[in-house]
Amino acid sequence: MKLRVYAVIVVGLLGSGPLFAQPARTPESPVESWKKTDLRMNDNCSACHQRLGEPLAMQVSQWQGSVHAQKGVFCDSCHGGDPTSTVLTVAMGEQNGFMEAPQPPAVPDDCGRCHEDALASFKESAHGELFESNDYEPSCVTCHNSHDVKAVSFDMVAMTASCGECHEQNYIDEVRNPLAETDRRMERLRAQIASLPASNPNAAYLHRRLDKASEAFSRLAHFLNANTITTQRQTLDRELTYLEFMVAFDDTKTSD
Ligand code: HEC
Ligand code: HEC
Ligand code: HEC
Ligand code: HEC
Ligand code: HEC
Repeated sequence: MKLRVYAVIVVGLLGSGPLFAQPARTPESPVESWKKTDLRMNDNCSACHQRLGEPLAMQVSQWQGSVHAQKGVFCDSCHGGDPTSTVLTVAMGEQNGFMEAPQPPAVPDDCGRCHEDALASFKESAHGELFESNDYEPSCVTCHNSHDVKAVSFDMVAMTASCGECHEQNYIDEVRNPLAETDRRMERLRAQIASLPASNPNAAYLHRRLDKASEAFSRLAHFLNANTITTQRQTLDRELTYLEFMVAFDDTKTSD
């Protein structure tokens, strides 16, 4: 016990020394500051909460398996506060930018601080329009969770996922149908690009472009409306046509 207190003091002293000085962290600029994952040892938010017992410990284990934990989005990135302090009133001090957990009406704007495109497409959709009158459901966390947030995939648009709680199959088809063929095209391209020989000078480049296309694809489902999705899809379709051409072009070259 003594030893731990001592260690905390030493870390505290080092942390405040000029050599280990950290940039000031604000709720507006949280992600960059934590991208340096070598600072993780100062994540006292998790360290303390983990020992609190339920319902205040589960957020830690849920978050640990999340895409956010992987990408350096920590407790304080969303909640504010000072993760370098072990003192509750400092770590969770308003003076250090700590904010109370967002209430349901505030959740979209809260997530939207870092996900502008997702927020915009959500607001434009039927879900966004009915958000207030439908008791703030579905919200970002209805479909993605708040702590156990996973990387997205097209499989989310299905009866088995959160859609099925509220909808029949025809609503899901409205979103799935205009995207299903594009999803298959991308899968085919992914396999083709993966099987290009490593010596192929274009392989890495094509891979990057396909990753970009996948990101653009994941943005489309939020619009919900089939006409909007089909219009929004056009730039992506052109990109896939180009990638298909490039892959075919390389095939003829390498089979010589
Ligand atoms: C020394 C232990 C300790 C540390 C360090 C700590 N917390 Fe807490 N936290 C608690 C306790 C105890 C509660 C519940 C009592 C309360 O709300 O004051 C709590 C409550 C919370 C809540 C819920 C508040 C609400 O609105 O319902 C959030 C969110 C939270 N902490 C986030 C953080 C973040 C982010 C950090 C790091 C910047 C952090 N905590 C650091 C002990 C700690
Ligand atoms: C991606 C943003 C995000 C991250 C990262 C995050 N939280 Fe939260 N947290 C939320 C949101 C949003 C809520 C509001 C409750 C909800 O909608 O589920 C919340 C609620 C809470 C609550 C209140 C519980 C409740 O049900 O009201 C606690 C405690 C908490 N978070 C602790 C933590 C701790 C500890 C960490 C780090 C291990 C963390 N959070 C990381 C977004 C986040
Ligand atoms: C502090 C900034 C920040 C906040 C706030 C935040 N996120 Fe994130 N989120 C990120 C980052 C960074 C990534 C990783 C992005 C990447 O890899 O391109 C991410 C990834 C995601 C992904 C995976 C995207 C994919 O392409 O697979 C989802 C889903 C997500 N966040 C949902 C949420 C939700 C829901 C909330 C609110 C509860 C939220 N985020 C709040 C920064 C944030
Ligand atoms: C009705 C369920 C639902 C709601 C509500 C919802 N999403 Fe999504 N989200 C999805 C689905 C489905 C995908 C796309 C899956 C795919 O096709 O890959 C997605 C994709 C994403 C992505 C990855 C694409 C991108 O834009 O970078 C992020 C990030 C994201 N959502 C965040 C949010 C945020 C933030 C909110 C709230 C403002 C929100 N989502 C509301 C279901 C939902
Ligand atoms: C919490 C309940 C809830 C969840 C979960 C949910 N929705 Fe909805 N959705 C609604 C409500 C409410 C409306 C508006 C009323 C209506 O059209 O029935 C709506 C409307 C829609 C519409 C009509 C859009 C338009 O332009 O008219 C589509 C399509 C749709 N949702 C698809 C989905 C998909 C796909 C998912 C899963 C990714 C999903 N919804 C998850 C409640 C939900």
